[in-house]
Amino acid sequence: MFYTGCRFHSGLTKIMTKKNIKINFREKFEKFSEQWKPKVITELNDYQFKLVKIKGYFIWHNHEKTDEAFIVIDGKIFIEFEEKIEEINEGEMIIVPKGIKHRPYAKTEAKIMIIEPKGIVNTGEILDKLTAPNDDWI
Ligand code: NI
Repeated sequence: MFYTGCRFHSGLTKIMTKKNIKINFREKFEKFSEQWKPKVITELNDYQFKLVKIKGYFIWHNHEKTDEAFIVIDGKIFIEFEEKIEEINEGEMIIVPKGIKHRPYAKTEAKIMIIEPKGIVNTGEILDKLTAPNDDWI
């Protein structure tokens, strides 16, 4: 390897290894089966892309400091807000604005991608049995 032995460049190589490879969502979804446990697949600056399988109801929560993006890759999800429920189908997405209470759910298992800054806890300010480990890469 060209960069072997140089501390600075071996760090660079590590970053390149993590990011400079195409990602196939279907292959990534085959690597886990748990529901409501977001798996990080890559990062963009301070943001992480996470895949999640969801079924049933999540808890009401909000994120005080950040918006949250939901992209439906397979199936259909619902996001309940205090004043309405949005149905998001495969090929659709929605942004949940920061501070807004929301409760995602799916009637049958759906596969989704979430984009949010590093370090965001899935249950917001609440500690719950659905609180998932952070920074869980696949
Ligand atoms: Ni949320």
